[in-house]
This record gives sequence, structure tokens and C-alpha cells, in this order.
Amino acid sequence: TVMKGVRHLCENVGITRVPSKYIFPVSDRPQIMSSAQKPKIKLPVIDIGELLSEDRTRVLETLDQACKEYGFFQVVNHGIDGVVIQRMIDSGKQFFELPFEERSRYLTTDTSSPVRYGTSFSEINDEVFCWRDFLKLTCHSLDTILPLWPSAPIGFRDDAILYSKKTRTLFLVLIAAVLEALGVGAGNCESSMKEFEEGSHLLVLNCYPACPEPELTLGMPSHSDYGFLTLVLQDEVEGLQVLHAGDWITADPVPGSFVVNVGDHLEIYSNGRYQSVLHRVVANASESRMSVASLHSVAFDSMVSPAAGLVDDGDAGKRRLYKDTGFADFIAYLSTSVPKSKSFLES
Ligand code: SIN
Ligand code: FE2
Repeated sequence: TVMKGVRHLCENVGITRVPSKYIFPVSDRPQIMSSAQKPKIKLPVIDIGELLSEDRTRVLETLDQACKEYGFFQVVNHGIDGVVIQRMIDSGKQFFELPFEERSRYLTTDTSSPVRYGTSFSEINDEVFCWRDFLKLTCHSLDTILPLWPSAPIGFRDDAILYSKKTRTLFLVLIAAVLEALGVGAGNCESSMKEFEEGSHLLVLNCYPACPEPELTLGMPSHSDYGFLTLVLQDEVEGLQVLHAGDWITADPVPGSFVVNVGDHLEIYSNGRYQSVLHRVVANASESRMSVASLHSVAFDSMVSPAAGLVDDGDAGKRRLYKDTGFADFIAYLSTSVPKSKSFLES
């Protein structure tokens, strides 16, 4: 039953306690806090309308600060229609509500599969399983991959296509702004943008069923994302937490907004100016939660290196801090351990 995931466990088996396979070591367990106990810090907010306006100086400054200090920010006023977002959430929820037999058609542990349904974080390596089922959809290039996407529930494929196209456009706006905030120079910016336009794009639908003992497990263990930027859509149930100055800060669900975070590739590209940040998901005692993460980076077969404009061997302040890293290195690293630290990045 473990490989069948947590939804199957809750629905078909029925449980009142978290099975031992899902119980985290004490040091990794979350402290379930009331709203009054929670740190009051909020993530910085980036207004995309401002990014697209004439005077971008202030918002680029805010973006630079957000990437440096938090590695996370909320994105508002992004221009993506609320209907597109709501349909993605509704269709995603309906997918996880399909009978297990239907979902299990996509069940595989093959990480290279363009469509993959699964559970936990890394099923093959996880000693303790986390309270999460997922559907991963490769989005690039859409034409070749679409026929492989689930056709049920009705409307799912259309909703996911539209959502992936809209978020891809937003991602390119965000990435151009990040490159500008970093000051990589126009030439480097142009060649990097080409790589991102042709780069990898993955949609990950996460389902975290209501959990009888959320204090014993996690929806997702502490990790950093390997890509350049990740864009997360949360439903109305909170759960995402970000490590900031030693505290786990909850990313408040703000209707119609996205949470965006710096990934390992951006850490390398920025030569450490921006750092990917550890985050995790806490399970919820009474409600099921769904999120949709879009992971964007360069193509799967290319390498990431510090931007040419940010390193200079003759300048001690611009010493190169990272070696070239590609997806292959990341996958190799993943197969040895759960990425609790980012040690694989250092040169
Ligand atoms: C993640 O992608 O790390 C978690 C996203 C979420 O469920 O909020
Ligand atoms: Fe993540």
C-alpha cells in the first residue's frame, strides 16, 4: 500500500493514525503552531504590473532584496485570469479524486518519464515516506508530450495546457527581471533568455490528504528546488513553510497570487548572490491541500554556470564559487540521499 500513496491509504484502507512508514525522526517533525504562535513575518510581495511599467527601478530593487534575503516572494497583479487559475485547481483536485485504477495508469518510479504519478518525495530512496501524492507533467515541448498527458478528468488536459502556457509567459517576465536585478549585462541576458525560452518546464501537482497526526510527519521534507525558479500555486489551505533566519515561516495562501522561489540553478547562475532556500510542507489535520508547482530552468541536457558578467578571476569579490552543474549531477545526487543540504553545489 505504501507505493499506492497516501490518498489510497486514507480512502481505501482507512486509518486513524499515521503508519510508522510515515513517522519522521523527532528532529525533523514540525511544530504545529496556532496562528498566534506563528512568526509574524510575511514574504515580500512583487507586483508584476510594476515590472511591466516604465519605471522599474523600485520593483527591481525589491526583487533583488527579496531574492537575497528570503529566496522567496509572493507575486501579485500578474495578469493571469482568475478563471485559468481556478480551473487548474479544480481540475487538479478532480484528478486526485479519480478512482485509484485511473490514476495508477501513470504510476511509475522512472524519473525520466514525461508523465509520472507517484507518492512521497523520492520513493526509491526515502526511508520515511512523506504525506504527499503527486502528478508530474513535462511541459516542454508541449506538442510532442501532450498526447501522453492524462485525458481524465474531463477538461483536465485543456486546463493544464492553458495554465502551463500562461505561467510560462509569466516565468519569462520574472526571469528577465531577475537577470536585470542581478546586473548580468545585456549580452549575457540575451543569450541566457534564449536558453530559458527553450528550457525545461515541469508541472507538479501535489496532493496532501488530511492527516490524522500532522505533528508526526511532513507533506514534503525540507528541501531546496534544483531549477532556476519555481512558481507555486496554492489552494486555500496553508502548508508551505520557508526557512528564514532559523524560523519556519508560513507562506500565507493569498487568493490569485503565486509563491516564487530561487532554485539551485539560480544560486549557481548568480554565483551565490541569491541562494536557494530550504522549504517544506506541513500536513493538515482536517483539510486536504493541493498545490501546483511549475519548475523552470535550462534544458535537461545543458549545464548551468555562473553568469559571465558576475565572475572575474582578477577580482577577489567576484571569485567563481560554483562549478558547472547539470540535471545529470542533480539526479545522481538525489539517488544518494534526500537533499537536506545543498552540498552538491559547492566547487
Ligand atoms: C514544493 O514544491 O516544494 C511545495 C509546494 C507546495 O505544496 O506548497
Ligand atoms: Fe520545493
